[in-house]
Amino acid sequence: MCEFEHPLPPLEDDEYVLDTARVREVVGEVRAHIGEATSPRDACDRIEPLFTRLLADPAWLPQRYQEPARESGMGGGIGQWLLFRAADRSLSLFSLVVPPGAMTPVHDHLAWGLVGLYRGNQDEEFYRPEAGRLELVRHRPLSPGDFYALLPPRDDVHRVRTTSAVTSVSIHLLANDTGCVLRHTYDETTGEAHPFRSGYVNAACEEPPRLDR
Ligand SMILES: [Fe+2]
Repeated sequence: MCEFEHPLPPLEDDEYVLDTARVREVVGEVRAHIGEATSPRDACDRIEPLFTRLLADPAWLPQRYQEPARESGMGGGIGQWLLFRAADRSLSLFSLVVPPGAMTPVHDHLAWGLVGLYRGNQDEEFYRPEAGRLELVRHRPLSPGDFYALLPPRDDVHRVRTTSAVTSVSIHLLANDTGCVLRHTYDETTGEAHPFRSGYVNAACEEPPRLDR
């Protein structure tokens, strides 16, 4: 099936930052679905039932991955917490924590995948970059359990904002190492793309050099 390039150097091993039986089970099932899928859309459809169950389960995500982060690549105290990533950078699972009133910049992901709301409420806005502007193509409120597919090059440029009085937490399952790839933010008025790497609060993008090499 169609794959995007992963120019980042591979990691030594798969990285289970949240190393639980539940996360390992989810990753195993997701990989099996991807292996059988004929397209990113098909992969999203196959993964959807288990993703829905994950969003509905209040027990699997520890509170520390539902906290805002003062130092944040997204700005606004927005925390991007890595939970799992594949050694070849072809898959990542992370939470995005957006405090009340905060919003992300308009950004892309450069990978297909699923994003769903776990806590709080958000508004999501999808955009189509046009010459000299951004066209708003979709705007809708999200409640816990709601989710959407990212399928670049369509449906990849968006922004989310928290509309609830409590911090919102969304779960991202994407087919790249989203926090580490060089992607883009977009100027709201001109539509101009700027290079952007969000990073993670709790994981580095490069492995430290090993002394025995
Ligand atoms: Fe996003």
